[in-house]
Amino acid sequence: MTEKKIEHCSFCGKHKNSVGTFIVGEDVAICNICVDGCDKLIKNKQGSGKLISNLEIPNPHDIKAYLDQYVVGQDSAKIVLSVAITNHYKRIGNSNNEIDKSNILIVGPTGTGKTLLASTVAKYLNVPFVVADATTLTEAGYVGDDVESVILRLYQNADSDAERTQRGIIFLDEVDKIARKGESATVSRDVSGEGVQQALLKLIEGTKIKISPVGGRRSETTVEIDTTNILFIAGGAFVGLDRIIKSRVQGTAMGFSADLVKSEMLENSMVSPDDLVKYGMIPEFIGRFSSLVNLHGLTKEQLISILTEVKHNYVEQYQWLFNQDGVELNFEKESLNLIADRTLKTKTGARGLHTELERILLPHMFDLPKYRKQSILSVAITSNLVNTPATLARENE
Ligand SMILES: Nc1ncnc2c1ncn2[C@@H]1O[C@H](COP(=O)(O)OP(=O)(O)O)[C@@H](O)[C@H]1O
Ligand SMILES: [Mg+2]
Repeated sequence: MTEKKIEHCSFCGKHKNSVGTFIVGEDVAICNICVDGCDKLIKNKQGSGKLISNLEIPNPHDIKAYLDQYVVGQDSAKIVLSVAITNHYKRIGNSNNEIDKSNILIVGPTGTGKTLLASTVAKYLNVPFVVADATTLTEAGYVGDDVESVILRLYQNADSDAERTQRGIIFLDEVDKIARKGESATVSRDVSGEGVQQALLKLIEGTKIKISPVGGRRSETTVEIDTTNILFIAGGAFVGLDRIIKSRVQGTAMGFSADLVKSEMLENSMVSPDDLVKYGMIPEFIGRFSSLVNLHGLTKEQLISILTEVKHNYVEQYQWLFNQDGVELNFEKESLNLIADRTLKTKTGARGLHTELERILLPHMFDLPKYRKQSILSVAITSNLVNTPATLARENE
């Protein structure tokens, strides 16, 4: 038998020319993408280094320290979150507990780390995690079906382990979008918002949900999941909530210096449950979320630190991508400043950083495969390139 050369990854089937590194064994081969994938899997299973084991009650200081590695700023939010998480796992660790479940509501502008905080906490705790968009629950009308699919996804993320599923975290995104419309709503039936809040209440308080993991007929194998101990973290931007807080705070600071006092008090004032009810959340729903977490808009310095300092930062990610084609990528300090400035103007939080980088780096990424042949071994992003990305790429032709 003639020896056959292996040219495709045995795991994903990609051709060796279409990947970065290609490792060939006796009669198998693996590409760098699959190696990375395996690495992640192993780390997730082992709970890399500091991740804690399933039944251990976490220490709030450790949670905060872990969050600090991935999430820039938002210090007081991290502390509230760490304590709430600790209390939750204390509570469910005690089978005859009398303490009420206290879920967490994160309020903050878009792109400031709501989803990131929740997913990072789940990673630390090594528990299954899903993001459920509250708005899609609205559209379907029949909330029950959607709730089932959320639980099913959580179950899949728990490697089909019902026990683990019941200790997981569900992140309810965009809950502000299911607010009752209009503050002084005399509308008697508001299906879109209030209905969904009501339906979610049951899930949050604890109910048994039947899921059919095989995706086949219901009668085959159904698994029952009790949601009593599942932790719910809700997030929302609540655009316009500042006006409600303002009128509350202003009410207590009338007179000449009201304007001065106002801005300072606003910056430091916490969202109160009343504010959220005024916004259109039903009191029973808000009542289930006794930990309120406030996120602030990110400063320019924080944006730069998100670009270059946190674990898995954006610059590192793109450097890795360029490296796959053997090209080094560098950013001049001034261009990082400029990118942060431009992002601040878009008011999209750190989300805008990604958009900026894509815009600047896209022409290069399009041409990366031929850079090596042209002996272009490194790309330096200057402030000129930040302002007019596409032109220089064309000059390279
Ligand atoms: N405080 C932060 N620290 C580090 N990265 C952040 C922070 N806030 C946002 N990001 C980045 O921006 C992206 C969007 O953040 P996300 O948490 O989804 O925002 P949202 O508050 O809208 O849920 C994340 O993937 C993350 O990379
Ligand atoms: Mg989000």
